[in-house]
Amino acid sequence: MKADVVSMGIPQIGLGKVREHSCLAKKEFPEIEVSPKLIEYQGRTFRVLKSSDQIGFKGDITYVKRKLNQLFSQYCLKKKSAVLDAFAGYGITTYDWLLSGGRVAAVEKNKNVHACLTENLKDFPADQLKVQHADNVKVMEQLQASGAKFDTIDLDPFGNAYQQFKLSLKLLDKGFIWLTSGEHINMRRNWNRDVLISRYGEEVVKCYEDKSTIPEFPKIIEKHMKSVRSDIQLVTHVMSHACARMLFAIGAAVPRSLKREFSKIPRYYGYLA
Ligand SMILES: C[S@@+](CC[C@H](N)C(=O)[O-])C[C@H]1O[C@@H](n2cnc3c(N)ncnc32)[C@H](O)[C@@H]1O
Repeated sequence: MKADVVSMGIPQIGLGKVREHSCLAKKEFPEIEVSPKLIEYQGRTFRVLKSSDQIGFKGDITYVKRKLNQLFSQYCLKKKSAVLDAFAGYGITTYDWLLSGGRVAAVEKNKNVHACLTENLKDFPADQLKVQHADNVKVMEQLQASGAKFDTIDLDPFGNAYQQFKLSLKLLDKGFIWLTSGEHINMRRNWNRDVLISRYGEEVVKCYEDKSTIPEFPKIIEKHMKSVRSDIQLVTHVMSHACARMLFAIGAAVPRSLKREFSKIPRYYGYLA
């Protein structure tokens, strides 16, 4: 049996180079029911469950996410920085954080995805990587109760991570939170207005009523979160019709050189309103 490989040869902003070829037999990964599929990234091969999981890796925003991750690692992650990767998936972003010497706690709720994640990063030592099969809310509550603190927290869900974002603010004295949100899809489709107003305040209404204001959503999140922690600052964000990837600094200084690098990256991809 053949499996596809998507190669993520980044750093072209905009369209990344996507290449498919075949290798690996299913018998090498027997616990996964569906055909194994592969993604090549930064010299490492990641197994994923099904080819549709690769689709996200072909869009502009995913390539830009990798570029942002790499810049952030380079400028902000110190060796041994404590990182919580709360939506670890197959471990590709986890790998970005590991490559810069971070000590990473990676959490994944889906049993089969967790099996891939463990396999994909199995050669990292236990003192650098801890992988957990769990719901991240439970893990974060336990971490909070134990007084654990992190330097960087990555929240990269499908959909939203509102609850986890609020918990994250308690798990950092100072540091950074990466947040991916697809909540503006609700605004585009006139869904969940009450939920989003209760989360982010009345300002959200303007995005529902005038779709051209949807690109302001990350700023609205920032404003709202300032009422939870006043020292939060939106450092940068990129958006497509489907998701926004945002970096928040919490009481932490952002190197000027990083701000300069971020300013070169286009912010909006595709049709937003
Ligand atoms: C967008 S993917 C993560 C992609 C990954 N960060 C990357 O860049 O390679 C989101 C993942 O979060 C997992 N997930 C969703 N809800 C979760 C929860 N409450 N706790 C832990 N993992 C969760 C999903 O199973 C999925 O694999």
